Amino acid sequence: MITSPNNVILVGFMGTGKTCVGEALAKRLGYKYVDTDDLIEVRAGKVISRIFAEDGEAYFRALESEIATELESFRDHVIATGGGIIKADDNIAALNRAGTVVCLLARPEVIYERVKDETHRPLLEVPDPQGRIVELLAERRAQYEKSGYQLDTSDLTTDQVVDHIIALVRR
Ligand code: S3P
Repeated sequence: MITSPNNVILVGFMGTGKTCVGEALAKRLGYKYVDTDDLIEVRAGKVISRIFAEDGEAYFRALESEIATELESFRDHVIATGGGIIKADDNIAALNRAGTVVCLLARPEVIYERVKDETHRPLLEVPDPQGRIVELLAERRAQYEKSGYQLDTSDLTTDQVVDHIIALVRR
């Protein structure tokens, strides 16, 4: 029997909480958890910062789109995605075919606080990461707004975000 995908897909900018929330949500729903960045790293055989440095962002985006089209075959998964997956409308369409898409948001200063001590995001390895966050958020805002559900995580705990998402998907 072919069932339609019941996955929950988390999109949103870097530092909005997709990984923490995704792992906790998967536990609560009894689903498996997967992160598209991890699938990309397995496919490329190297970590994202090396993909960007050695192959370029365009190659990373091509792998990201390839993975996006494959998510439709997943069942019972919470899928966290990379912050830029929504740049391509075809990816947004593929995510919508794969399940319920929820976009996590956060204020730029909260995002900066959450990511400032991490070094695995090549797009933020620049002299002015705070400025870059504001710039990228502005560039991508319209794409994030295409998600059916949006939730600002700035002032919420992981558990509170999970509660909200469960209420949304069960509605
Ligand atoms: C990116 C976000 C990263 C990762 C890559 C590019 C982006 O994922 O996919 O560094 O373009 O916003 P996270 O959102 O999980 O940090």
